Amino acid sequence: MWPLAPAWLLLHMWEHFAFDPSLTSWVSDVAYPLMKGLCEFYLDFLVVAPADVEPEQYIVTNPSMSPEHTIRNSLALTYGSTIDNSLLRDLFNHTAEFANMLGVDSDFASNLTSTMARLMPFRIGSLGQIQEYARDYDANEGFNHVSQLYPLFPSAQIDPRFNTILTDAAKVTLKQRGDSSNGEPTAWRADFFSRLLDGEKAYYYMQRLLQLYSYDNLWSINDIYQIDGNFGGASAVAEMILQSHNGEIHLLPAIPSSWTQGSIKGFRARGFTVDMTWSDGVLVSATLTSTSGTFARVRYAGNAIDITQRQGASRTLTPSDF
Ligand SMILES: *[C@@H]1O[C@H](CO)[C@@H](O)[C@H](O)[C@H]1NC(C)=O
Ligand SMILES: *[C@@H]1O[C@H](CO)[C@@H](O)[C@H](O)[C@H]1NC(C)=O
Repeated sequence: MWPLAPAWLLLHMWEHFAFDPSLTSWVSDVAYPLMKGLCEFYLDFLVVAPADVEPEQYIVTNPSMSPEHTIRNSLALTYGSTIDNSLLRDLFNHTAEFANMLGVDSDFASNLTSTMARLMPFRIGSLGQIQEYARDYDANEGFNHVSQLYPLFPSAQIDPRFNTILTDAAKVTLKQRGDSSNGEPTAWRADFFSRLLDGEKAYYYMQRLLQLYSYDNLWSINDIYQIDGNFGGASAVAEMILQSHNGEIHLLPAIPSSWTQGSIKGFRARGFTVDMTWSDGVLVSATLTSTSGTFARVRYAGNAIDITQRQGASRTLTPSDF
């Protein structure tokens, strides 16, 4: 049992809206009430860490765990695991944003924001890694799961474009955990390296996923068939070609050198649809069509430009625009 699993599940509702910001009535009727209810549960569940343990008196989950891992091969339960803190940051943040957007529950939303500020921040351990737990329990050994890097992917709290200290620590963590020996963790590694903007490493894990951990029909192997290797692998390929988190649409962010040319049509970015072609490893052109008239910062090869398009309007960009 993992009390934070519902947070991860409901965060998909935020993502659904982020990819299609025209869904405001669905947010108000379906997504927001569920997310609000879950936040109420967590506000009730969270406790203040005792001052002799955490002088800053952070607000933590307790009991807490990091999925399917144990601490030094014995216990699994502790307080304030990194994935718990990270999921709560996202859930409280996005639920407060929905409340603000809908113009409802302003006291509740500010409660979420102030609680969010008291969650334990990331900690970098003695090995230079992103700590998996509040205490520096991590050993320098391989393991399939890398739950402490949920904030790198699918969340975007660790972003190499904005925070090199956390990014470097995430790289140390991935080095410690090693290659993994199953489908879903291999797909997740491909996702991590896409987000680290390392196309060669992402490609390396995609090759492992397809060569070692896929049946002949391409279903993913996790000892037995398990769909998350397929979903994770598909998202890694998409994220090698196009990313759209933290307010930016990033064209060809992690394209491996062997993918010299290609094209996509109707790819969804958060708030935009993208058609794009590239050749000799460089962008030829990208056409962005706004799904809801929102602003976007578009990044290519180290430079970013800002565009705002009317809903349904398109704009074609070429390398000379950057
Ligand atoms: C949510 O997080 C983003 C990114 O850190 C921040 O800019 C925004 O103000 C937060 N929103 C709320 C309601 O706390
Ligand atoms: C804010 O959260 C606390 C629990 O952390 C709760 O006691 C209080 O009623 C909440 N206030 C609102 C307006 O939701």
